Amino acid sequence: MDLKAQIQRDKLPQHVAVIMDGNGRWAAQRNRPRVFGHRHGVQAVRAVTEAAAELGIPYLTLYAFSTENWKRPRTEVNALMSLLVETIRKEVKELNKNDIKLKAIGDLQKLPEKSHKALIEGIRNTANNKRMTLTLALNYSGRWDILQAAKNICRKASLNKNAETPHDPCEELSEEDFRQALCTRDLPEPELLIRTSGEMRISNFLLWEMAYTELYFSKVFWPDFSKEEFYKAILDFQQRERRFGGLSPTNS
Ligand code: FPP
Repeated sequence: MDLKAQIQRDKLPQHVAVIMDGNGRWAAQRNRPRVFGHRHGVQAVRAVTEAAAELGIPYLTLYAFSTENWKRPRTEVNALMSLLVETIRKEVKELNKNDIKLKAIGDLQKLPEKSHKALIEGIRNTANNKRMTLTLALNYSGRWDILQAAKNICRKASLNKNAETPHDPCEELSEEDFRQALCTRDLPEPELLIRTSGEMRISNFLLWEMAYTELYFSKVFWPDFSKEEFYKAILDFQQRERRFGGLSPTNS
């Protein structure tokens, strides 16, 4: 059964977000250290990026490191950061070949200097690519982003407090203004979220942005998540009826 051929190209999600989960359990099943799972996870990153670009999905966002992940043992955090540097450096050529732009969201200033530098270089070196935007969420959490947006809006409002303005800036704040203060302002809202490994949680990812996102949970551990698994998620999405709080056309 050719899954890819069954995908309707005119009904693709424009933005797919992924919580890559299960690397540790995948490694444990093989009596190997957790880092072994993360290393194999990079292959799945490659497969899913390729699959999304080939289909023509314009935005793919991967949750690579959450603000909560700092609580993990230092050796694992260091290994993840090194893997990030190594992967970005290695893959830039491939990203350019495939016309994929790298982007990052999160509290990036707090990443170790080496990781930050590799990331900025990767972003700069792929900035002109057009086919797909691959966004890595790094030191990211949805609450962090909502809070930093609120702080920036407050800061601006208090700077304007003494200005001669007849308007109440708080009353005038719109959803669109708030969206513009989030670090995801350049991305459309995700239409599909995929989480692997059988866990069914949002885990502080894209909280504002996922108001109407379709959720897809796969039991497969991330290192085993292949192109075929990605196609299954897209096909499942294409079966859904998205109503955004309205009625189905058959009811109206
Ligand atoms: C979750 O599995 C995975 C992570 C916290 C890290 C994801 C990182 C990668 C796939 C590799 C690096 C990625 C890039 C983009 C270079 P887990 O450790 O929580 O697994 P568990 O729930 O089984 O313990």
